[in-house]
This record gives sequence, structure tokens and C-alpha cells, in this order.
Amino acid sequence: MLGWLKTRREVAKFCVDLPFDLSAPAFIADPYPSYAWLRENAPAVELQGGGYLLTRYADIRAAFTNSALGNAPSRFSTLAPRNAQKYVAADLASHIPPFLDAPEHKQMRQMVSRSFFNVFNGMGNELDVLAREQIAQLNAGDDLISAASQPFSVIAMCRFCGVASAPEQMKAFTQAFFHLFAPLCDPEVFAQVNTALAAFRAVLAEALQAGPPEGSLLAQMRAFQAQSEGITDVQIVDNCLLVFADGVENIEAGVASLMLVFEQAGIWDDLQSGTLSMELAVREGLRLQTPAQLVPRVAREGIELGGVQIKKDMPVFLALASGNRDGAVFDAPDTFDAARNMSDVMTFGQGRHRCIGETLGIAQLTAMMRAIVELGIRPAAKAMTYQSRIGHRWPDEMFVKIK
Ligand code: HEM
Repeated sequence: MLGWLKTRREVAKFCVDLPFDLSAPAFIADPYPSYAWLRENAPAVELQGGGYLLTRYADIRAAFTNSALGNAPSRFSTLAPRNAQKYVAADLASHIPPFLDAPEHKQMRQMVSRSFFNVFNGMGNELDVLAREQIAQLNAGDDLISAASQPFSVIAMCRFCGVASAPEQMKAFTQAFFHLFAPLCDPEVFAQVNTALAAFRAVLAEALQAGPPEGSLLAQMRAFQAQSEGITDVQIVDNCLLVFADGVENIEAGVASLMLVFEQAGIWDDLQSGTLSMELAVREGLRLQTPAQLVPRVAREGIELGGVQIKKDMPVFLALASGNRDGAVFDAPDTFDAARNMSDVMTFGQGRHRCIGETLGIAQLTAMMRAIVELGIRPAAKAMTYQSRIGHRWPDEMFVKIK
């Protein structure tokens, strides 16, 4: 069965035990050597705990349009629609695009997308102003994430969505939400996630009832509801919750990841002088350190992927981070090159579930990195550690010095 394994020693060298363990400490610390080995030797690898991981760019790209792969949770999942009465998490999942397939996906995506762009297109330079305010408060030795990028992203999303609330409370909620994208095995953690999501919903429902500020996401979704059939208040609340959380978690982590990529690439002077575009540097930085490393799908029927037969209801994870470094598509894939063609990069996914908030995410990160360059903030160390979580590559901390 494991005929493609060259030698046990070679497997050990790349920390690749089989079935493959996504939570292995060496993989969390640096997944890229393992991705390279898997692309070469096991492009569809079986995972400990069930499911498969696709690591080649071409297979991932094909998976985005494969109708045999869906987003709705399998009937065995705690998030399955049959559990909607039982768990807040399952009820929430039954309303938001990442967990829906056609036809339900279409209407919810349309509401989020239209409302999102109406708000985004009306934004001025507020992100730049907010980023400068937050970065200006940093002192040498501070943790950039907790002291600046977290308050920045929470305040930005409170304004975007039309919610006035305590940033620390909202941050606890967004953290809970992202548990839905990783296996939910610990009953105690799952209970806490349900409690936090219920409280998150209550805050947004109150803001919706109170009449959200004009031009905010909640107000735009209310307007969409008035023109469409059958959209409920809970669907509005849950989709606002999704956008809020997406605009916080990947952003606060992304700022810290970009700091280290820019430091290692030695591009601070080029960014300061303007010879290098900040937006292109941000996009290339996200290719090298992709925040959403894996996105999940479920096999709707038995299928063959990457030469492996996958049974119905099996989870299949698409390793966007690996696709982003596949040498079959990107020249010198491990090297920073902001001049490369970015159109193939898969940081924000592709196809019918492609990220709706890409423009806002890039704008948030660009504003923060601009303020960081202007105010001379640099990483205090040349390495950092990452949270032990499946699916996302989020740094623990990023201590800074002032140039
Ligand atoms: C650097 C920041 C971000 C990254 C790396 C990122 C990444 C992604 C990825 C990879 C997907 C596709 C998931 C899939 O195919 O299953 C996605 C979907 C999505 N993203 Fe983002 N995202 C970011 C920021 C944002 C922001 C700021 C927002 C909203 C304001 C947002 C809203 C969404 C939504 C609503 C979806 C679901 C689309 C659907 O399922 O139809 N994202 N994101």
C-alpha cells in the first residue's frame, strides 16, 4: 500500500509519519518541507483522524470545481444540519457560505457579497488613520499582535459591521468562531464554543434591532432582506458574524507573519523608499506564509483524487499553502519575489467559495504594514512560534523593536 515510500529514513527526515499528522509539532513549526515531500511522493495523503490532504497545485485547482466535493458538513459531523436544534454552532453553520452548497449557498453568498462591496466601496482612508493610531502606541518589547494588530482589526470590523462593543469581548468571540474550521473533538471546548457563539449572536442581534448605522454591513444586509424572499434576521446576524470574524483573525496573524517575511527578504528600505509596492509585497508575503493553510471539503460520492480512491463522506483538505509553493506553477517558489505574476496564487481560494473579503483583507494588511514601515517598527527576533491549530498558520506573538 505504501509502495511510493522510498525509505523509512527519508520519511523520518521530513517528519512525515503515515497516516499524516497535521498536529505534529514539527509540522506546526514549519510545514513547508513536509508539503514539498508530500507533493513529490504522496499528493493525496491519508490523515490521522480521518480524511485526506491534497498538496499539489493542479489537484487543488481541479478540486475547487469538482462537483463531487462539497462544503456542507457530512452527516457524521457535529456541524451537520440535523444538529441545528441541538448546537448553536450547527445552526450557525447552516446559514453561512463556507458550510453551504448550491442552491442555499447562492442566496447567502449574494447577500454577503452585495452588502460587503456596498460598505467597502464607501470606505475612505479610515484604515490608514486607524493603523497609524495603533502602531504609534507601540513601545519596544511590545507584542505587535496583542498590542496593535488585534485592536486594529477588531475596531475596524466593529465599524465595518456597525457594532459598538468592547474590543476584548469581540476578540473572544472571533476566536471561538474559528474552531468551526478545525476538527471539534474536545466536548469541553465545543461547549465553550457554543456558549461564545450564542453571546456573539446576541451582540449582533441587539445591534440589528437597535437600527445599525447607515452604510454599515448590518444596514446593508437589512436593505438586502427588504428586497429578497425569505431572509431571516438570524441569517443576517450569522453572516455578519462570519464577516466580522474573518476580518479579525487572519488579519492580526497576517501582520505578524508579514513582518517576518519582510525581515527575511530584506525589503524594508525598498518599501520605505516606495521602489517596492506595498500591496504587491503583502500579496507575495501571503503566498509565502499563507494564513488559511487548508480549506476543508467533503466527498459527496466515492471519487479518485491524486491517484487515491476516496470514499463518500470523507473530509478532503486542500492545502492552499502547499499549492502556493508548488514549483510546477511558481518559479523559485520558496523565494520572495513581488514582481511575479500573482494571478495563480491561491491564498484566497478559487471558484465558487473564493474569499469575498480579499479586497478588505489586503487593504487592512497594507494599511498596517505601511504604518509599520513609516514608524520604523521591526521584529525583535528572526523567528517565531505558531499556534498549534489545524488549518491556519497563526503566530503566537511577535515582539518588536523600534528602528
Ligand atoms: C488575509 C486575510 C484573508 C484570507 C487569507 C482569507 C482566506 C479565505 C479563503 C482561503 C477562503 C475560501 C475558503 C474555501 O474555499 O472554502 C475564504 C472565504 C471567505 N472569506 Fe476570506 N480571507 C481573508 C480575509 C477575509 C475578510 C477580511 C473577509 C470579510 C470581510 C473575508 C470573508 C470571507 C467569506 C465571507 C468567505 C466565504 C466565501 C464562500 O464560502 O462562499 N475573508 N477566505
